[in-house]
Amino acid sequence: MTVKVPKDRTIDNTLAIFKDGYEFIPKRVQNHHLDVYETRVLGEKAALLSGEEGAKLFYDTSKMNRKNALPTRVLKTLFGEGAIQTMDGDAHTHRKLLFMSLMTPEALQHLYDITTKNWAHFTKKWSGMKKVTLYDESRELLCRTACEWAGIPLAEKEVQKRTSDLSLMIDGFSAIGPKHIESRRARKRSEAWIENLILKVRSGEMKAEQGKAIYEMAAHKDLSGEPLDARMAAIELLNVIRPLIAISKFLTFGAVALEEYPETKTRVSLDDEYLFMFTQEIRRFYPFVPFLGARVDHDFTWQQYSFTKDQLVLIDVYGINHDPRIWENPDEFHPERFTDWDGGLFDLIPQGGGGYYKGHRCPGEWPTIEVLQASFRYMTKHLDYRVPKQDYSYSLKKIPALPKSGFVMDHVHFKN
Ligand code: HEM
Repeated sequence: MTVKVPKDRTIDNTLAIFKDGYEFIPKRVQNHHLDVYETRVLGEKAALLSGEEGAKLFYDTSKMNRKNALPTRVLKTLFGEGAIQTMDGDAHTHRKLLFMSLMTPEALQHLYDITTKNWAHFTKKWSGMKKVTLYDESRELLCRTACEWAGIPLAEKEVQKRTSDLSLMIDGFSAIGPKHIESRRARKRSEAWIENLILKVRSGEMKAEQGKAIYEMAAHKDLSGEPLDARMAAIELLNVIRPLIAISKFLTFGAVALEEYPETKTRVSLDDEYLFMFTQEIRRFYPFVPFLGARVDHDFTWQQYSFTKDQLVLIDVYGINHDPRIWENPDEFHPERFTDWDGGLFDLIPQGGGGYYKGHRCPGEWPTIEVLQASFRYMTKHLDYRVPKQDYSYSLKKIPALPKSGFVMDHVHFKN
Protein backbone atom coordinates (compact mmCIF):
# COMPACT_ATOMS: atom_id res chain seq x y z
CA MET A 1 0.00 0.00 0.00
CA THR A 2 1.27 3.49 -0.79
CA VAL A 3 0.70 6.04 1.94
CA LYS A 4 1.43 9.68 1.22
CA VAL A 5 4.13 11.09 3.49
CA PRO A 6 2.52 13.95 5.41
CA LYS A 7 3.97 17.44 4.97
CA ASP A 8 3.48 20.83 6.52
CA ARG A 9 2.15 23.39 4.09
CA THR A 10 3.59 26.42 5.88
CA ILE A 11 6.73 28.18 4.59
CA ASP A 12 8.59 27.73 7.88
CA ASN A 13 7.62 26.11 11.16
CA THR A 14 10.33 27.43 13.49
CA LEU A 15 7.80 29.49 15.45
CA ALA A 16 5.67 26.37 15.95
CA ILE A 17 8.55 24.88 17.97
CA PHE A 18 8.07 27.72 20.47
CA LYS A 19 4.28 27.36 20.33
CA ASP A 20 4.09 23.56 20.63
CA GLY A 21 7.25 22.96 22.71
CA TYR A 22 7.69 19.29 23.62
CA GLU A 23 4.67 18.39 21.48
CA PHE A 24 6.07 19.87 18.28
CA ILE A 25 7.01 16.48 16.75
CA PRO A 26 4.44 14.13 18.39
CA LYS A 27 1.62 16.44 17.36
CA ARG A 28 2.70 16.13 13.75
CA VAL A 29 4.00 12.56 13.39
CA GLN A 30 1.96 10.45 15.77
CA ASN A 31 -1.39 11.04 14.08
CA HIS A 32 -0.26 9.38 10.85
CA HIS A 33 0.56 5.89 9.59
CA LEU A 34 4.23 6.63 9.08
CA ASP A 35 7.01 7.56 11.51
CA VAL A 36 8.19 10.41 9.31
CA TYR A 37 6.82 13.86 8.53
CA GLU A 38 8.25 16.64 6.39
CA THR A 39 8.39 20.23 7.54
CA ARG A 40 10.57 23.33 7.28
CA VAL A 41 12.46 24.69 10.28
CA LEU A 42 15.21 27.30 10.57
CA GLY A 43 14.78 27.98 6.85
CA GLU A 44 15.43 24.42 5.65
CA LYS A 45 13.55 21.25 4.79
CA ALA A 46 13.57 18.84 7.73
CA ALA A 47 12.31 15.32 8.33
CA LEU A 48 10.70 14.71 11.72
CA LEU A 49 11.06 11.14 13.00
CA SER A 50 9.15 9.41 15.78
CA GLY A 51 8.47 5.92 17.12
CA GLU A 52 10.89 3.10 17.90
CA GLU A 53 11.51 2.56 14.17
CA GLY A 54 12.24 6.25 13.74
CA ALA A 55 14.78 6.06 16.57
CA LYS A 56 16.49 3.06 14.93
CA LEU A 57 16.88 5.04 11.72
CA PHE A 58 18.11 8.15 13.53
CA TYR A 59 20.83 6.13 15.29
CA ASP A 60 21.89 4.23 12.15
CA THR A 61 25.32 5.79 11.62
CA SER A 62 25.50 4.41 8.08
CA LYS A 63 22.61 6.74 7.20
CA MET A 64 22.94 9.72 9.56
CA ASN A 65 25.82 11.91 10.72
CA ARG A 66 26.30 14.85 13.06
CA LYS A 67 28.36 17.22 10.91
CA ASN A 68 26.65 20.64 10.94
CA ALA A 69 23.65 19.14 12.73
CA LEU A 70 23.74 21.57 15.66
CA PRO A 71 23.03 25.31 15.44
CA THR A 72 25.94 27.61 16.35
CA ARG A 73 23.93 29.05 19.26
CA VAL A 74 23.87 25.59 20.87
CA LEU A 75 27.60 25.02 20.32
CA LYS A 76 28.53 28.41 21.73
CA THR A 77 26.58 27.82 24.94
CA LEU A 78 25.64 24.26 25.80
CA PHE A 79 28.18 21.94 24.16
CA GLY A 80 31.25 23.86 22.99
CA GLU A 81 32.66 24.02 19.48
CA GLY A 82 34.35 20.91 18.05
CA ALA A 83 33.22 18.70 20.95
CA ILE A 84 32.18 15.04 20.81
CA GLN A 85 28.56 15.90 19.94
CA THR A 86 29.71 17.08 16.49
CA MET A 87 32.02 14.15 15.66
CA ASP A 88 31.45 11.09 13.46
CA GLY A 89 33.10 7.77 12.60
CA ASP A 90 36.34 6.50 14.14
CA ALA A 91 37.28 9.87 15.63
CA HIS A 92 33.94 9.91 17.48
CA THR A 93 34.29 6.33 18.74
CA HIS A 94 37.81 7.07 19.98
CA ARG A 95 36.59 10.15 21.89
CA LYS A 96 33.59 8.23 23.21
CA LEU A 97 35.87 5.55 24.66
CA LEU A 98 37.49 8.31 26.71
CA PHE A 99 34.13 9.22 28.25
CA MET A 100 33.06 5.61 28.75
CA SER A 101 36.37 4.79 30.48
CA LEU A 102 35.26 7.10 33.31
CA MET A 103 32.15 5.04 34.02
CA THR A 104 33.64 2.08 35.92
CA PRO A 105 31.51 0.43 38.65
CA GLU A 106 33.91 1.85 41.27
CA ALA A 107 33.64 5.36 39.85
CA LEU A 108 29.84 5.13 39.79
CA GLN A 109 29.75 3.91 43.40
CA HIS A 110 32.04 6.80 44.32
CA LEU A 111 29.64 9.24 42.63
CA TYR A 112 26.76 7.74 44.63
CA ASP A 113 28.74 8.19 47.85
CA ILE A 114 29.79 11.77 47.12
CA THR A 115 26.18 12.67 46.29
CA THR A 116 24.95 11.16 49.57
CA LYS A 117 27.67 12.98 51.54
CA ASN A 118 26.66 16.28 49.97
CA TRP A 119 22.98 15.71 50.74
CA ALA A 120 23.99 15.33 54.39
CA HIS A 121 26.00 18.61 54.30
CA PHE A 122 23.15 20.45 52.65
CA THR A 123 20.58 19.05 55.08
CA LYS A 124 22.59 20.63 57.89
CA LYS A 125 22.62 23.96 56.05
CA TRP A 126 18.91 23.76 55.16
CA SER A 127 17.88 23.02 58.74
CA GLY A 128 18.87 26.60 59.51
CA MET A 129 16.92 28.07 56.60
CA LYS A 130 13.30 29.23 56.60
CA LYS A 131 12.65 28.15 53.05
CA VAL A 132 14.60 25.91 50.68
CA THR A 133 14.04 25.91 46.90
CA LEU A 134 15.31 22.51 45.84
CA TYR A 135 16.03 23.41 42.22
CA ASP A 136 18.37 26.28 43.22
CA GLU A 137 20.04 24.43 46.07
CA SER A 138 20.49 21.18 44.16
CA ARG A 139 22.44 22.91 41.41
CA GLU A 140 25.08 23.94 43.97
CA LEU A 141 24.96 20.50 45.58
CA LEU A 142 25.55 18.91 42.18
CA CYS A 143 28.27 21.39 41.19
CA ARG A 144 30.22 20.40 44.30
CA THR A 145 29.51 16.73 43.58
CA ALA A 146 30.54 17.01 39.91
CA CYS A 147 33.81 18.81 40.65
CA GLU A 148 34.82 16.39 43.39
CA TRP A 149 34.01 13.40 41.19
CA ALA A 150 35.91 14.82 38.24
CA GLY A 151 38.94 15.83 40.37
CA ILE A 152 38.42 19.57 39.82
CA PRO A 153 39.47 21.77 42.75
CA LEU A 154 36.69 24.14 43.78
CA ALA A 155 37.48 26.82 46.34
CA GLU A 156 34.63 27.79 48.65
CA LYS A 157 34.60 31.34 47.34
CA GLU A 158 34.11 30.25 43.72
CA VAL A 159 31.29 27.74 44.24
CA GLN A 160 28.48 30.17 43.51
CA LYS A 161 30.14 31.70 40.47
CA ARG A 162 30.90 28.32 38.89
CA THR A 163 27.41 26.97 39.66
CA SER A 164 25.87 30.06 38.12
CA ASP A 165 28.02 29.91 34.96
CA LEU A 166 27.39 26.20 34.39
CA SER A 167 23.65 26.76 34.91
CA LEU A 168 23.68 29.65 32.44
CA MET A 169 25.30 27.40 29.84
CA ILE A 170 22.52 24.84 30.34
CA ASP A 171 19.61 27.26 30.19
CA GLY A 172 20.85 29.93 27.80
CA PHE A 173 21.00 28.05 24.51
CA SER A 174 17.29 28.34 23.82
CA ALA A 175 17.00 31.87 25.24
CA ILE A 176 16.99 34.99 23.15
CA GLY A 177 18.53 38.38 23.88
CA PRO A 178 20.59 39.17 26.99
CA LYS A 179 20.18 35.74 28.61
CA HIS A 180 21.66 34.08 25.54
CA ILE A 181 24.58 36.52 25.46
CA GLU A 182 25.19 35.89 29.18
CA SER A 183 25.19 32.17 28.42
CA ARG A 184 27.92 32.59 25.76
CA ARG A 185 30.00 34.63 28.24
CA ALA A 186 29.50 31.96 30.90
CA ARG A 187 30.87 29.34 28.48
CA LYS A 188 33.95 31.46 27.71
CA ARG A 189 34.64 31.98 31.43
CA SER A 190 34.15 28.28 32.17
CA GLU A 191 36.37 27.12 29.30
CA ALA A 192 39.14 29.48 30.45
CA TRP A 193 38.84 28.23 34.05
CA ILE A 194 39.09 24.56 33.09
CA GLU A 195 41.75 25.09 30.40
CA ASN A 196 43.98 26.66 33.01
CA LEU A 197 43.56 23.58 35.23
CA ILE A 198 44.31 21.22 32.32
CA LEU A 199 47.56 23.10 31.68
CA LYS A 200 48.48 22.86 35.35
CA VAL A 201 47.89 19.09 35.37
CA ARG A 202 50.00 18.71 32.25
CA SER A 203 52.87 20.76 33.65
CA GLY A 204 52.76 18.87 36.96
CA GLU A 205 51.89 22.03 38.89
CA MET A 206 48.65 20.36 39.95
CA LYS A 207 48.33 16.72 40.99
CA ALA A 208 45.49 14.70 39.48
CA GLU A 209 44.49 11.13 40.16
CA GLN A 210 44.41 8.62 37.31
CA GLY A 211 40.84 7.62 36.46
CA LYS A 212 39.42 11.04 37.39
CA ALA A 213 37.97 12.96 34.48
CA ILE A 214 40.47 15.83 34.78
CA TYR A 215 43.43 13.45 34.57
CA GLU A 216 41.99 11.47 31.67
CA MET A 217 41.07 14.57 29.63
CA ALA A 218 44.53 16.08 30.22
CA ALA A 219 46.27 12.82 29.25
CA HIS A 220 44.05 11.76 26.33
CA LYS A 221 45.62 11.44 22.89
CA ASP A 222 43.55 11.67 19.73
CA LEU A 223 43.68 9.14 16.89
CA SER A 224 46.87 10.65 15.49
CA GLY A 225 48.55 10.20 18.88
CA GLU A 226 48.53 13.92 19.74
CA PRO A 227 47.26 15.26 23.08
CA LEU A 228 44.02 17.21 22.82
CA ASP A 229 44.39 20.92 22.42
CA ALA A 230 44.08 22.28 26.02
CA ARG A 231 40.90 24.21 25.14
CA MET A 232 39.37 21.07 23.60
CA ALA A 233 40.25 19.04 26.71
CA ALA A 234 38.54 21.76 28.77
CA ILE A 235 35.44 21.63 26.56
CA GLU A 236 35.19 17.86 27.03
CA LEU A 237 35.75 18.12 30.78
CA LEU A 238 32.90 20.63 30.87
CA ASN A 239 30.91 17.97 28.98
CA VAL A 240 31.24 15.89 32.17
CA ILE A 241 30.48 18.45 34.88
CA ARG A 242 27.88 20.64 33.13
CA PRO A 243 25.36 17.81 32.56
CA LEU A 244 25.87 16.53 36.10
CA ILE A 245 24.46 19.89 37.24
CA ALA A 246 21.59 19.58 34.77
CA ILE A 247 20.42 16.52 36.75
CA SER A 248 18.89 19.14 39.11
CA LYS A 249 15.91 19.25 36.72
CA PHE A 250 15.16 15.50 37.02
CA LEU A 251 15.82 15.77 40.73
CA THR A 252 13.25 18.55 41.14
CA PHE A 253 10.69 16.60 39.11
CA GLY A 254 11.45 13.58 41.32
CA ALA A 255 10.71 15.58 44.47
CA VAL A 256 7.38 16.59 42.94
CA ALA A 257 6.62 12.96 42.05
CA LEU A 258 7.22 11.90 45.67
CA GLU A 259 4.52 14.40 46.70
CA GLU A 260 2.09 13.66 43.90
CA TYR A 261 2.43 9.89 44.26
CA PRO A 262 3.02 9.56 48.03
CA GLU A 263 2.51 5.79 47.88
CA THR A 264 5.97 5.57 46.25
CA LYS A 265 7.86 7.04 49.24
CA THR A 266 8.25 3.99 51.47
CA ARG A 267 9.36 1.73 48.64
CA VAL A 268 11.83 4.32 47.32
CA SER A 269 13.36 4.50 50.82
CA LEU A 270 13.66 0.72 51.31
CA ASP A 271 13.54 -1.27 48.11
CA ASP A 272 16.54 -1.02 45.74
CA GLU A 273 14.70 -2.48 42.78
CA TYR A 274 11.83 -0.07 43.20
CA LEU A 275 14.25 2.85 43.61
CA PHE A 276 15.70 1.97 40.20
CA MET A 277 12.27 1.69 38.57
CA PHE A 278 11.15 4.99 40.14
CA THR A 279 14.29 6.67 38.75
CA GLN A 280 13.69 5.25 35.27
CA GLU A 281 10.10 6.45 35.36
CA ILE A 282 11.23 9.97 36.34
CA ARG A 283 13.53 9.99 33.30
CA ARG A 284 10.76 8.68 31.02
CA PHE A 285 7.79 10.62 32.30
CA TYR A 286 9.02 14.17 32.82
CA PRO A 287 10.03 16.45 29.93
CA PHE A 288 13.71 17.28 29.56
CA VAL A 289 15.25 16.98 26.08
CA PRO A 290 12.52 17.60 23.46
CA PHE A 291 14.29 16.40 20.30
CA LEU A 292 17.75 15.91 18.77
CA GLY A 293 19.17 16.63 15.32
CA ALA A 294 21.29 14.80 12.73
CA ARG A 295 21.98 15.09 8.98
CA VAL A 296 21.31 12.58 6.21
CA ASP A 297 24.56 10.95 5.04
CA HIS A 298 23.43 10.03 1.50
CA ASP A 299 20.16 9.83 -0.46
CA PHE A 300 17.90 6.89 0.48
CA THR A 301 14.22 6.03 0.85
CA TRP A 302 12.62 4.89 4.12
CA GLN A 303 8.91 4.37 4.82
CA GLN A 304 8.25 5.80 1.35
CA TYR A 305 10.00 9.06 2.16
CA SER A 306 13.02 10.18 0.13
CA PHE A 307 15.73 11.43 2.46
CA THR A 308 18.24 13.67 0.69
CA LYS A 309 21.94 14.06 1.50
CA ASP A 310 22.61 16.71 4.22
CA GLN A 311 18.92 17.14 5.02
CA LEU A 312 18.16 17.97 8.65
CA VAL A 313 16.46 15.20 10.65
CA LEU A 314 14.93 15.64 14.10
CA ILE A 315 14.11 12.73 16.41
CA ASP A 316 11.18 12.95 18.82
CA VAL A 317 12.81 12.25 22.21
CA TYR A 318 9.89 13.35 24.37
CA GLY A 319 7.29 11.75 22.10
CA ILE A 320 9.03 8.35 22.03
CA ASN A 321 9.16 8.31 25.84
CA HIS A 322 5.37 8.83 25.69
CA ASP A 323 4.51 6.76 22.62
CA PRO A 324 1.37 4.66 23.33
CA ARG A 325 2.69 2.01 20.92
CA ILE A 326 5.62 1.44 23.31
CA TRP A 327 4.28 2.41 26.73
CA GLU A 328 0.90 1.35 28.12
CA ASN A 329 -0.95 4.42 29.42
CA PRO A 330 2.12 6.56 28.78
CA ASP A 331 0.75 9.60 30.59
CA GLU A 332 0.40 7.73 33.87
CA PHE A 333 3.30 7.77 36.33
CA HIS A 334 3.84 4.10 36.97
CA PRO A 335 7.35 2.90 38.03
CA GLU A 336 6.21 -0.75 37.98
CA ARG A 337 6.11 -0.60 34.18
CA PHE A 338 9.87 -1.25 34.35
CA THR A 339 9.46 -4.62 36.12
CA ASP A 340 9.53 -6.51 32.83
CA TRP A 341 11.27 -3.93 30.68
CA ASP A 342 13.91 -5.55 28.49
CA GLY A 343 16.25 -2.55 28.40
CA GLY A 344 15.52 -1.70 24.75
CA LEU A 345 17.96 0.65 23.07
CA PHE A 346 15.31 2.64 21.19
CA ASP A 347 12.33 2.97 23.55
CA LEU A 348 13.51 4.72 26.72
CA ILE A 349 15.54 7.54 25.20
CA PRO A 350 15.59 10.57 27.55
CA GLN A 351 19.38 10.67 27.07
CA GLY A 352 19.46 9.45 23.49
CA GLY A 353 19.19 5.92 22.05
CA GLY A 354 21.24 3.23 20.35
CA GLY A 355 24.61 1.94 21.58
CA TYR A 356 27.13 3.96 23.57
CA TYR A 357 30.26 3.36 21.53
CA LYS A 358 29.38 3.85 17.87
CA GLY A 359 26.51 6.28 18.36
CA HIS A 360 25.86 9.42 20.36
CA ARG A 361 23.86 7.90 23.24
CA CYS A 362 24.69 9.81 26.42
CA PRO A 363 27.70 8.33 28.25
CA GLY A 364 26.34 9.97 31.41
CA GLU A 365 23.24 7.83 31.63
CA TRP A 366 24.59 5.67 34.48
CA PRO A 367 26.04 8.64 36.42
CA THR A 368 22.63 10.30 36.08
CA ILE A 369 20.90 7.22 37.47
CA GLU A 370 23.40 6.99 40.36
CA VAL A 371 22.97 10.65 41.35
CA LEU A 372 19.18 10.38 41.17
CA GLN A 373 19.07 7.13 43.13
CA ALA A 374 21.34 8.53 45.83
CA SER A 375 19.17 11.66 46.02
CA PHE A 376 15.76 9.94 46.11
CA ARG A 377 17.02 7.43 48.67
CA TYR A 378 18.38 10.24 50.83
CA MET A 379 15.22 12.32 50.56
CA THR A 380 12.95 9.47 51.57
CA LYS A 381 15.17 7.88 54.21
CA HIS A 382 17.03 10.70 55.92
CA LEU A 383 15.22 13.96 55.20
CA ASP A 384 12.25 15.38 57.03
CA TYR A 385 10.62 18.37 55.37
CA ARG A 386 7.32 20.10 54.95
CA VAL A 387 5.98 21.12 51.60
CA PRO A 388 4.13 24.46 51.79
CA LYS A 389 1.35 25.23 49.32
CA GLN A 390 2.94 25.98 45.96
CA ASP A 391 2.49 25.57 42.22
CA TYR A 392 4.46 22.63 40.86
CA SER A 393 2.82 22.62 37.52
CA TYR A 394 4.97 22.82 34.40
CA SER A 395 4.21 23.58 30.81
CA LEU A 396 5.02 21.31 27.87
CA LYS A 397 5.12 24.45 25.76
CA LYS A 398 8.18 25.79 27.56
CA ILE A 399 11.60 24.25 26.75
CA PRO A 400 13.30 23.40 29.08
CA ALA A 401 10.41 22.48 31.38
CA LEU A 402 10.55 22.82 35.15
CA PRO A 403 8.01 22.82 38.00
CA LYS A 404 7.01 26.48 38.51
CA SER A 405 7.88 26.68 42.22
CA GLY A 406 11.23 24.88 41.80
CA PHE A 407 9.97 22.69 44.70
CA VAL A 408 9.93 24.62 47.95
CA MET A 409 10.47 22.89 51.31
CA ASP A 410 10.43 24.24 54.87
CA HIS A 411 11.15 22.83 58.35
CA VAL A 412 13.93 20.76 56.83
CA HIS A 413 15.87 18.52 59.21
CA PHE A 414 17.42 15.08 59.57
CA LYS A 415 14.94 12.25 60.09
CA ASN A 416 15.19 10.58 63.48
C1 HEM B 1 20.32 15.40 33.19
C2 HEM B 1 20.91 14.35 32.77
C3 HEM B 1 21.31 14.19 31.34
C4 HEM B 1 20.55 14.29 30.22
C5 HEM B 1 19.07 14.61 30.12
C6 HEM B 1 21.41 14.01 29.10
C7 HEM B 1 20.99 13.95 27.79
C8 HEM B 1 21.82 13.68 26.74
C9 HEM B 1 21.39 13.57 25.37
C10 HEM B 1 19.95 13.69 24.90
C11 HEM B 1 22.48 13.36 24.61
C12 HEM B 1 22.54 13.31 23.09
C13 HEM B 1 22.28 12.00 22.49
C14 HEM B 1 22.41 12.13 20.98
O1 HEM B 1 22.97 13.09 20.48
O2 HEM B 1 21.94 11.26 20.28
C15 HEM B 1 23.60 13.35 25.49
C16 HEM B 1 24.90 13.20 25.06
C17 HEM B 1 25.96 13.35 25.89
N1 HEM B 1 25.94 13.42 27.27
FE1 HEM B 1 24.31 13.46 28.42
N2 HEM B 1 22.67 13.78 29.56
C18 HEM B 1 22.65 13.87 30.93
C19 HEM B 1 23.69 13.65 31.77
C20 HEM B 1 24.98 13.49 31.38
C21 HEM B 1 26.09 13.30 32.27
C22 HEM B 1 25.97 13.14 33.77
C23 HEM B 1 27.21 13.27 31.50
C24 HEM B 1 28.64 13.06 31.89
C25 HEM B 1 29.02 12.51 33.01
C26 HEM B 1 26.79 13.44 30.12
C27 HEM B 1 27.64 13.54 29.04
C28 HEM B 1 27.23 13.53 27.72
C29 HEM B 1 28.13 13.55 26.58
C30 HEM B 1 29.63 13.67 26.62
C31 HEM B 1 27.33 13.43 25.43
C32 HEM B 1 27.78 13.37 23.98
C33 HEM B 1 27.86 11.93 23.52
C34 HEM B 1 28.18 11.76 22.06
O3 HEM B 1 28.04 12.72 21.30
O4 HEM B 1 28.59 10.66 21.69
N3 HEM B 1 25.45 13.56 30.09
N4 HEM B 1 23.19 13.52 26.78
